Amino acid sequence: MSTTDIETRLALIETEHEESLDAFARDVREGLSSTPKYLSCHYFYDERGSALFEAICALPEYYLTRTERQILAQRADEIAALFSGPISLIELGSGSAVKTRLLIDALLRHQSRLHYAPIDISRSAIEQSALALLKDYKSLDITGVIGLYEEGLVRLRRDIAGPRLVLWLGSSVGNFTEEAAIDFLREVATSLETDDRLLIGMDLDKDPALLERAYDDAQGVTADFNLNLLTRINDAFSAHFDLRYFAHRAHYNTERRRVEMHLESLRAQTVSIDDLGLEVSLGAGEKIHSENSHKYRQKDIEKLLKRGGFALEHQYLDDEQRFSLNLARPLIS
Ligand code: TRP
Repeated sequence: MSTTDIETRLALIETEHEESLDAFARDVREGLSSTPKYLSCHYFYDERGSALFEAICALPEYYLTRTERQILAQRADEIAALFSGPISLIELGSGSAVKTRLLIDALLRHQSRLHYAPIDISRSAIEQSALALLKDYKSLDITGVIGLYEEGLVRLRRDIAGPRLVLWLGSSVGNFTEEAAIDFLREVATSLETDDRLLIGMDLDKDPALLERAYDDAQGVTADFNLNLLTRINDAFSAHFDLRYFAHRAHYNTERRRVEMHLESLRAQTVSIDDLGLEVSLGAGEKIHSENSHKYRQKDIEKLLKRGGFALEHQYLDDEQRFSLNLARPLIS
């Protein structure tokens, strides 16, 4: 297949997203001047971060990806058959889009062509996954959106014909606070029409030991992923975080049902961030919060979706009931 053929089936949209250096600078300044300190989680996914996250997905401890893939493999045909005619596929946070292939395969058994629109903050993830998919699927057209979910959805409302199936896999919803998840789901619901559907992956509440291992693996890949936030700040703003004096921590808060990720300062230290004219003082044991990953009980899922403007139509679980895929219909459109 020629390169030109692939190029005619690919459109790239770059939204005016706030991934600019100014926004990053503002977020770093704000988070590291707060008590307790925090760093904004969407800065995880630069090129190195996205590659590390792919490595996390392949770890034996990180059951999420494997389990979700297994559910998709079992159910993709059933899901594709829920639609009476051809549909378009939109994906939020598509990453490498490897799992998506299971759905693409199933949909292309029901329709002759498919328009797929992945949205991801990482340019390299969008470009690499789109080229790989277009090479393997001749009846696929791709509109890749580099940017934040919200901006991507607004663009796609115009450009992608319905009915649409919106994929939000990997339990990324769990990285939002409950209020933010509801707000965002409502935004998605509002951008959809009656015949559109959402397929959302949500991780289930389980044994804390299992959860903590999933977020603190033996090889230390997750630690590198979390610590990469500091490397990114070093590179972007001539900062002097010495990674030897920070450690990755993952703790399951059973009351709030979320894995809480931190970067812990292993000694009292003051770190300068030259380009921001900022000195950050950290005590020994002081933690910078970097991410939460919420886990859900089955009974919470329908409620959360409902508050987010969706009615749960089908729930698919794996045999061990570790993870859920949920198909939902928008209530507000
Ligand atoms: N969406 C992923 C999750 O919650 C993100 C993730 C996996 C993550 N491992 C992490 C985020 C470690 C921060 C640190 O499962």
